Amino acid sequence: MTALPSPAEHAALRAGLPGAAPNDQADAQFAFGRSDFERVRRLIREHAGISLNEGKQAMVYSRLSRRLRDTGHGSFTAYLDALEQAGPGPEWQEFVNCLTTNLTAFFREEHHFHDLARELEGRRGGPIRIWCNAASTGEEPYSIAMTVTEALGNAGAAKIVASDIDTKVLATAAAGVYGADARGLTPERLRRHFLRGTGANSGRIRVKPELARAIDFRVHNLMAPRWSFEEGFDIVFCRNVMIYFDAPTQRQVLERIHAAMKPRSVLYVGHSENFTDSKDLFRLRGKTVYERV
Ligand SMILES: C[S@@+](CC[C@H](N)C(=O)[O-])C[C@H]1O[C@@H](n2cnc3c(N)ncnc32)[C@H](O)[C@@H]1O
Repeated sequence: MTALPSPAEHAALRAGLPGAAPNDQADAQFAFGRSDFERVRRLIREHAGISLNEGKQAMVYSRLSRRLRDTGHGSFTAYLDALEQAGPGPEWQEFVNCLTTNLTAFFREEHHFHDLARELEGRRGGPIRIWCNAASTGEEPYSIAMTVTEALGNAGAAKIVASDIDTKVLATAAAGVYGADARGLTPERLRRHFLRGTGANSGRIRVKPELARAIDFRVHNLMAPRWSFEEGFDIVFCRNVMIYFDAPTQRQVLERIHAAMKPRSVLYVGHSENFTDSKDLFRLRGKTVYERV
């Protein structure tokens, strides 16, 4: 029997350090060759639009070797054969969940929330529909719901749909439970929008029910051939997900987001995302804030 990678090797694999490719390591549990990596890259690009760069081989090994162990497959080839033969289903979802990157925080890129508050005030009294896609573990849609409460008096003043391709992070989002030391929350917001856990739950916070009720969480793949929710959004958050897509995929997704938005609606994107080439769809209105044309 071959040994599991040591903690140090795991750390190197996770960090994607040069030279840490599992095949270079005599005691990596599973062989993971170039063709296995290329196959994973193709599958995740076709299914989720995610382009994994060359440097991600060690990360992919580290994340997917757990699936091989849990499903009892002895090699990447056997696992990927079974995955492709079975097609869409629970293991596909596990495969996708393993390969997404879910970093997020409350009020990340805070200037967007100041802009959002002004936007909401301008739309006061009307129906307001907001879509937060790539919502990850929920900090972003709850930041939106807190901003709605603070700007308009109650979270129900806007309807918020929050979606992600990853079912595991969405389950965390829907539960609305976080560590009390979560980044990005002021003491005032902690008091106003969260309940503090006691006893076995001490050290945790839970979003208040009125905030949770304002958000409809849905599994949604931006690459899916059909989008199954009602369109006509006034405000869309699509932040820090397009960076994982190549340029043609970004354009394709942008066209579909555009089609799901009302004229003169607003799109917030991530700090390193730039869609100024798509002037026919969106006009830059502020720092990483676009207006639909
Ligand atoms: C880095 S997180 C960004 C979270 C949040 N938007 C933010 O900016 O803090 C990227 C998220 O995009 C999601 N994602 C990746 N590919 C996707 C796709 N094809 N459709 C929908 N969500 C996707 C991932 O599951 C992950 O939760």
